[in-house]
Amino acid sequence: MLAERMKSVKPSPTLVVSARAAELARQGVDVVNFSVGEPDFPTPQAIKQAGIRAIEQDFTRYTASSGIPDLRRAICDKLRRDNGLDYSPDEVIVSSGAKQCLFNLALAMFAPGDEVILPAPCWVSYEPQVALPGAAPVLIEARRENGFRVTPEQLRGALSPRTKALILNSPSNPTGAAYTREQLAGLAAVLEPTRVFVVADEIYEKIVYDGFVFTSFAALGPQWKDRCLVVNGVSKSYAMTGWRIGYAAGPRAVIGAMGKIQDHSTSNANSIAQLAALEAIRGPQEEVEAMRRAFQERRDLMLDWMGRIPGVACPRPQGAFYLFADWRAYLGRRAGGAAVASCIDLANYLLDEARVAVVPGAGFCAPGHLRFSYATSPERIAEGMRRVLEAAERLD
Ligand SMILES: Cc1ncc(COP(=O)(O)O)c(C=O)c1O
Repeated sequence: MLAERMKSVKPSPTLVVSARAAELARQGVDVVNFSVGEPDFPTPQAIKQAGIRAIEQDFTRYTASSGIPDLRRAICDKLRRDNGLDYSPDEVIVSSGAKQCLFNLALAMFAPGDEVILPAPCWVSYEPQVALPGAAPVLIEARRENGFRVTPEQLRGALSPRTKALILNSPSNPTGAAYTREQLAGLAAVLEPTRVFVVADEIYEKIVYDGFVFTSFAALGPQWKDRCLVVNGVSKSYAMTGWRIGYAAGPRAVIGAMGKIQDHSTSNANSIAQLAALEAIRGPQEEVEAMRRAFQERRDLMLDWMGRIPGVACPRPQGAFYLFADWRAYLGRRAGGAAVASCIDLANYLLDEARVAVVPGAGFCAPGHLRFSYATSPERIAEGMRRVLEAAERLD
């Protein structure tokens, strides 16, 4: 009954754990939730007010499919101001989340016979988005010893005549690893003599720590403007995940093709959310910095706890709001009658024994690891990590 292409979309191995966590919470069990992928802060007041004004002023009709001109202009101004990039509004598309931008791109650009390089661990949706239009994902391992970053040598080794694109996410979900300008330039040097296109997922741009200076891949030189799609959005930086506004900037032909797909699928992103996003991007940025600082304190707190768990290794992330910890030392251990054979078993064990929800690394193409989100209060971080530490001590 179903199309052949559905065979390429595997069920998520992580959903079972999150469904169990949600069911326990529904039953009133006190579960500490380290599995969330969104800021716990409310959307800043001025942005909410812009949304309310949009409703009151009846800004509730269809808009231009690729986004209202004011928002696209504001995005161009942002790309110039923050990233040193020079785009015009017809080189920008606004979609229902960065996820839709990436999906539009995949449909517009990837086809059977193409290979798309994905540094792994990587965000859960890249692999299915590459596979659905019939292209082949090629994973390269971003090793913990290299701070979960891939090296130019690894990238060179993964290239083939079929390589169509590289999808690079910095800072990364799930590892928090971010590439410096020099590290990006090292990868760019490998790709320059080729025709490989770069999809730069920069959604966590504003959530970086310890003075890390964020560089957009497209800012590496004018030669990249024709060969790079910059993907960003308001979900993470402005605590606006539910508003569903993301955007992409790139070559006119690519943006045009993405626009055609959007014209015939969802049309414009929500009109009210577009005006709220305009306020987010154009308005005062102090709250972004306040949230960033809070995340940094929480990262330090959670890292401190993680460091007390014997055998667990976890590099200090430069960005996003996740710790990606190597728990392989615990595989094969037992607690009572139960053996812990995989990271999925481990996540289930922590849920059952510690009432703490984490995401198994298998969903990010990194078995043996667990992703801990610190997008929650310092009190909950301390309580949850105390429980994790005690549960880990019971495994032998
Ligand atoms: C790496 C990465 N890219 C893209 C997205 C999609 O963001 P949105 O569709 O909310 O803009 C997410 C959200 O979890 C993400 O972690």
